[in-house]
Amino acid sequence: MAVISVALAGRAYDVVIEEGLLEHLAEAAAPYLMGYGPQRPVPFVADTNTHRLFAAPVDAHLAAQGMAAEWFVVEPGEDAKSWAVLERLCDWLLALGVTRSDHVFALGGGVVGDLVGFACSVVKRGVGFVQLPTTLLAQVDSSVGGKTAINTRAGKNLIGAFHQPSLVLIDPRVLATLPPREMRAGYAEVLKYGLLGDAAFFAWLEANGDKVLAREPAALEHAIATSIAMKARIVAADERETLDQRALLNLGHTFGHALEAETGFSDRLLHGEAVAMGMVLAAKYSTRRGAISAADAARATAAIAAAGLPAHLPGLGLACDGAALVDHMRHDKKAEGRTLPFLLLRRLGEAHVARDVDLTDIAAFLDEELKG
Ligand code: GLY
Repeated sequence: MAVISVALAGRAYDVVIEEGLLEHLAEAAAPYLMGYGPQRPVPFVADTNTHRLFAAPVDAHLAAQGMAAEWFVVEPGEDAKSWAVLERLCDWLLALGVTRSDHVFALGGGVVGDLVGFACSVVKRGVGFVQLPTTLLAQVDSSVGGKTAINTRAGKNLIGAFHQPSLVLIDPRVLATLPPREMRAGYAEVLKYGLLGDAAFFAWLEANGDKVLAREPAALEHAIATSIAMKARIVAADERETLDQRALLNLGHTFGHALEAETGFSDRLLHGEAVAMGMVLAAKYSTRRGAISAADAARATAAIAAAGLPAHLPGLGLACDGAALVDHMRHDKKAEGRTLPFLLLRRLGEAHVARDVDLTDIAAFLDEELKG
């Protein structure tokens, strides 16, 4: 078991990581269940997958404690992060009579967490919520840090708010049913923490990544706890991403978002897979700028490839050139006038924000990478 505090002044909260946590949810989340009882059910939000897998045990557990859950269930996938679903969720919470001292429970991956967090930020000007992340990606990244959002026609995550959860309960056992491809996509974000800020953790992942992907409990808990500890430190230091610290968490994301846009934000390339390929490109581009050796870039690439993640750009089968990918980057929400901040590596285990990157050179670099 590990407990990591996100030390935000006046709004500190715990992230608890423990095998089987979902089985004693009522005890683990006791302060946030006060006010609920047999006549006043606890609001839970899930998608049809997490509802099918976990609603029955949660219902049974709460019933044994003299409580009940009321479920709001969305379709799996990004479409749930929409105005229409947000409106239905907010109306449902209001109909349940949630108050600002109540807590809503988000049981699912990043989509459910982002949607619930944003709804909770606006209903009655802010109600509390508890994150129960069920994917590796949500467990190591999106459930912690208070970024909440929905998608609109203009792009992903452009309507949202910073709204921190009151508690994050991570039960690694729920990953037993996660498809291997999603497990690998979440693992890309784990590798990201090693590459951006912890060379020893990166070396540990090189040696033990197969155990994490095989869901061996000790390795999995170590990987999740080390990732969250770094994220908690960064969020506490730079909650609103204004100090170039939280931005480090975007390693691989500028290249990655361009690849996601080019593949239509579809199952062709999952977010974590795009981030993995993006980190390979960030490492190689760092070498091009003379910051890290070709051997270090090859080491980063090898760790990503060893996890079964995309590490070779031609393998994506894209029918575009580097300029088209740069165009996608220009539309990224982080575009600053005519330049873009790029997350590059000073060494393995140390990322930095580079604001002097020439987009023409990025296009030329990508043309070379696309040729293989
Ligand atoms: N996923 C990046 C962040 O939370 O800032």
